[in-house]
Amino acid sequence: MYRAPLAAYPALRPRRLRQADWIRRLVRETVLTPSDLIWSLVVHDGPEDEIQVASMPGAPRMSVRRAAEAAREARTLGIPAIAVFPFIDPALKDDRGTAATDENGLICRAVKAMKDAAPEVGIMCDVALDPFTSHGHDGLIENGRILNDATVERLIEQGLVQAAAGCDILAPSDMMDGRVGRLRTSLEAEGMTDVAIMAYAAKYASAFYGPYRDAIGSASVLSGDKKTYQMDPGNSEEALREVALDISEGADMVMVKPGMPYLDIVQRVAETFALPTFAFQVSGEYAMIQAAAQNGWIDGDRAMLESLGGFKRAGCAGVITYFAPRAARALAG
Ligand code: PBG
Repeated sequence: MYRAPLAAYPALRPRRLRQADWIRRLVRETVLTPSDLIWSLVVHDGPEDEIQVASMPGAPRMSVRRAAEAAREARTLGIPAIAVFPFIDPALKDDRGTAATDENGLICRAVKAMKDAAPEVGIMCDVALDPFTSHGHDGLIENGRILNDATVERLIEQGLVQAAAGCDILAPSDMMDGRVGRLRTSLEAEGMTDVAIMAYAAKYASAFYGPYRDAIGSASVLSGDKKTYQMDPGNSEEALREVALDISEGADMVMVKPGMPYLDIVQRVAETFALPTFAFQVSGEYAMIQAAAQNGWIDGDRAMLESLGGFKRAGCAGVITYFAPRAARALAG
């Protein structure tokens, strides 16, 4: 890119471009819009329309009925897609995550209800076993180890069930090796050629998932940590390898997760691969902003929009966030 030599002060006064709202808007480099948002929400199987989760104020578990209403709300607000996660009844959990492949299970019913309510809104599903397993891990366990290849077989079954229910985007979040390729060839084999894959390509073993595990009810059952499959927070080169692998296996879009502590990774990935790159502003990031705002320590709406704008500036095509409806409303007016 050609860069003209800069004039020096006083000829160059950067504040000229900041002197009023009109000129700040005129020269702004990146802009957040509702089209940048994917609304993450958790569904449960009970009759209560909303069940509050203490560590995620303002992001309750929703009934299937309420989730369908949320889909219509997304349409009205201009939010293109919803990512849905399940709170599974503990009685339905086992060590293989059997409920993950139930065609009449909670996730499939939620997907159908949302697609019926607002077919114009894209629906994205996590491909991972953790909401369904009695041990809270994303894969099958043998002798204390998470099995890779046997888990991938379960994930393929899960992904196909979700796609058959009407899910538009499959988002493998398990970090097993080789799952994107197997998922892509299986979708092709089933004739489901239009189902997109957004790979959780660079997903780190993070403390910021805590409130999510409360929301889906895996926190109380999870044994140990996920460090043998999720990435080490110290690594950046490895993130590029992970992304390259998922793209070569057939991912249409890639994701970095968590978001704010990993903006350097977002920027490297977006610049290196020039493929739609997303970030997940995870539950812990949401909870921090909400907690500080509730204490009156920060302006919640401004902090929300500033944090989301940061993802755009770093190169994201969009952001998965629990703030989506609130952010869309704030942007509208
Ligand atoms: C599970 C999964 C997690 C999240 C999305 N899918 C948590 C984990 O890996 O333990 C986190 C979402 C959030 O924290 O908001 N595969």
